[in-house]
Amino acid sequence: MKVVIPAAGLGTRFLPATKSQPKEMLPMVDRPIIQYVVEEAVASGADDILIVTGRGKRALEDHFDLSLELADRDDLPELRELDELSRRARIHFVRQREPRGLANAIECARFHTGKEPFGVLLGDTINVCDPPLLRQLWDRYERYHAPVLAVESVPDEKVRDYGIVDGPEVEPGVYRCERLVEKPPLADAPSRLGITGAYVLTPEIYDAIDRTRPDAHGEVQLTDALQLLARDRPVYAATFRGTRYDIGDRYLWLRTNLVFAWNSAELRDRLRPVLETLLEGSRATPSEPRPHRSRRRPKSRSRAER
Ligand code: UTP
Repeated sequence: MKVVIPAAGLGTRFLPATKSQPKEMLPMVDRPIIQYVVEEAVASGADDILIVTGRGKRALEDHFDLSLELADRDDLPELRELDELSRRARIHFVRQREPRGLANAIECARFHTGKEPFGVLLGDTINVCDPPLLRQLWDRYERYHAPVLAVESVPDEKVRDYGIVDGPEVEPGVYRCERLVEKPPLADAPSRLGITGAYVLTPEIYDAIDRTRPDAHGEVQLTDALQLLARDRPVYAATFRGTRYDIGDRYLWLRTNLVFAWNSAELRDRLRPVLETLLEGSRATPSEPRPHRSRRRPKSRSRAER
C-alpha cells in the first residue's frame, strides 16, 4: 500500500514554535508526531510512504535517515526501533513549493502514486485505532473499489470547522457521498458527519484536483475536489473505531501530550502530584517559565483540510 502524508503546511497556529521547525516534528511525549503517523501507516500495511514537505521542513527527512553513526550502540533501543521503522517501508519525500492547500499537497504525489489507489494521513494528526485507521478504510476500499473518507459525528458548535458529507447509508457506518460541503454554517449543514483527514483515494482524484478552483485564500481544498469527483463516480464516507488526536495548535498538542503521558505508568506516577498541586490552585513558583500569551488565530481552512 502506498501512503501519502502531507506535512508541508506553515503551522501558523503554533507560532513561534513552528517558525524554524516543522509542526510535525514537535514531540508527543518522546517521539515526533510524524513518527506516530508513519507508524500508523506501516501498521496499516504501507510499504511505500511519500511525505510531502516544504520550505523549512528538512528535519522531517533527517529524522528518517538511518542512524549509521550509532549503528553499533546497543544502549539506544529507541533509535534502533526508529531505524527498524525506516526499513519496514520505503520513505520518500517530495516538496510542495508553496503551501497552497491540502489538495495541492496531494497533487505533488501524482507521479509517485501513478495508477494505484493510495492512503492519505495528515502529518499533524495521530489516530489511535485498532485495527489502525487506514487499515479500516482500506478494507472498505477493497469492498467498494472507490475513494473512502474517514468521518465522525461532530457537535453542532464544531460543524463550521469541518467538511461535512451527506448521502444515504449503504451499510452501517458507510455513506455514499452525495454532497460534500466545506465549512457550512450550522443551518446549512446537511448532516453532522465531519471529514477527519484520513482517506483512501484513487487516481481519478488528480483530474478532480485539476478542475478545482482555489478558495478565497488561494488554497485548493480537497473537500471541493471530492465534491467534483462525487458527481462522476461513487465516493464513500466511513465512520471508524478509535480516537483521533489533532495536534494542530498548542492546546490540542498539550492535551494530547497529557493523555499520552497519562498512559505511561512511569510518567503518570510522576505527573500525578504535579497535576494535583495545580488543581489545588497552588501557584507556579516564580522561577518557572510562563508561556507567552498568544491570541487565538482564526483558522483559514477547515478541519477537513487538516
Ligand atoms: P493544517 O491545516 O493542520 O496545517 O494541515 P497548517 O496549514 O500547517 O496549519 P496552520 O493553519 O497554518 O496552523 C494538515 C496537514 O496538511 C499539511 C500540514 O503540514 C498538516 O500536516 N498541509 C497543509 C500541507 O502539506 N500543505 C498545505 O498546503 C496545507
